[in-house]
Amino acid sequence: MIFLSKWIKACSLEQVKEGQLFGFVSDDNKILLANLKGKIHATDLICTHADADLSTGFLSEEGVRCPLHLSVFNLDDGKPQNLPAEIPLKTYNVKIDDDEIYVEL
Ligand code: FES
Repeated sequence: MIFLSKWIKACSLEQVKEGQLFGFVSDDNKILLANLKGKIHATDLICTHADADLSTGFLSEEGVRCPLHLSVFNLDDGKPQNLPAEIPLKTYNVKIDDDEIYVEL
């Protein structure tokens, strides 16, 4: 079986300002964008512990904190930094083209 990745347009750079979180859905994929110090990161939108939308969480230097039980996920590798979450979020490649954000799914 061959898995092909594709770049999808998420939103404009303007919609994810520094320090902000932005969630979007594309087909079956629910993706979180986070702007940490000017760098855009993309991970899964839904917490790996339970059904919490991480775009309603909190962004800090350690990563994104789940609003429900407060696990923090590193934005580079998706790994939870504290319990109760134990499973990493998936992370995705991001590129910026002409002020639009694209994510490789
Ligand atoms: S739902 Fe995110 S830590 Fe529990």
